[in-house]
Amino acid sequence: MRVVKRGMADRQSMASNAPRIQQLGTVTEGGFISIPLASLRADTILDFEMYIEQSPGDAPVLYRGQDLEMKQDVLDNLVDARHADIFIKPESKDAYRQYVEKNLPEILKDESISVDEKSEVLYNSAQNLMQQVMDDPRTGDVIERSKAMISSTVDFLAHEHHAFSHMLQLVSFDYYTYTHSVNVCMFSLALAQRVGFDDREVLCEFGEGTLLHDVGKSQIDPNIVNSKNKLTFEEFEIIKQHPAIGYEILTEQGGLGDMALDVVRHHHEKMHGGGYPDDLRHNKLSPFVRMCTIADIFDALTTQRSYKDAMQTFDALKLMRQEMHRDVDPQLLEAFILLMGNPDR
Ligand SMILES: [Fe+2]
Ligand SMILES: [Fe+2]
Repeated sequence: MRVVKRGMADRQSMASNAPRIQQLGTVTEGGFISIPLASLRADTILDFEMYIEQSPGDAPVLYRGQDLEMKQDVLDNLVDARHADIFIKPESKDAYRQYVEKNLPEILKDESISVDEKSEVLYNSAQNLMQQVMDDPRTGDVIERSKAMISSTVDFLAHEHHAFSHMLQLVSFDYYTYTHSVNVCMFSLALAQRVGFDDREVLCEFGEGTLLHDVGKSQIDPNIVNSKNKLTFEEFEIIKQHPAIGYEILTEQGGLGDMALDVVRHHHEKMHGGGYPDDLRHNKLSPFVRMCTIADIFDALTTQRSYKDAMQTFDALKLMRQEMHRDVDPQLLEAFILLMGNPDR
């Protein structure tokens, strides 16, 4: 079996207690944040200041003030001058994130942008959104924004050649609930497509459920969710409440379909019982729940927590096949193993 490495995921020694991510590229010595030029669109208003380096290594200087319309000729000039990265100030971070999220469908459809750049913009944007969702899933329009994000992701994975393998290269190795949520969503959608689900609406609903599958963790003591130690029995009993809590929050908020809610509530159930919260058996577990469970276990094994190292892709798949074959759907697990071995097929 040819196993593709997960890019960063198979590199060692990433700090698991890193601060909340910037997700916007490198922070320069002067505190500026680099953003990809590909994320800026012509004929849109940029509500943040934009800086460029006049020569490599120089301190960035103001290039355009905020609230100006971006014109195609300005973008062309920057491309000609090979300013692949431009810079913003840290205080513009949120304005930039919102700008990217709003323009994501156009960015992903733009044929002049490489699939690598698109993957990066999408992955970062999804993580930023999930950070906000996990901060408070009941505020504002985070559910609607999640749906819009999934809609873009489904189209990107379906129409862009090799999109999944490009996304795989970006997969974060550090475990945070928001990175995990995006990873599980991506693995799940790729698996669903691989086993033949191609209805756009079904894939969107599945994507929403998988992206939000751990939203209940937002209501659990962060000291337990982010514990640096293996959980005690009592802590694990508390963690086990998250699927039901997530289900309640999302039912209350409205807007998600029954299949997505089922995925949220039942992603920790097992094929032969013994899972939680409802101790269901395989006859009650939809293929969507089963796919999410496989993606969830895989991401948990291959990301690093402070109390355990991340497993390599091959080892994680081997362990799942040898030790969890009774807990998960064996045919879907085989399909997942083939997917990870050959994501480009
Ligand atoms: Fe979970
Ligand atoms: Fe999870």
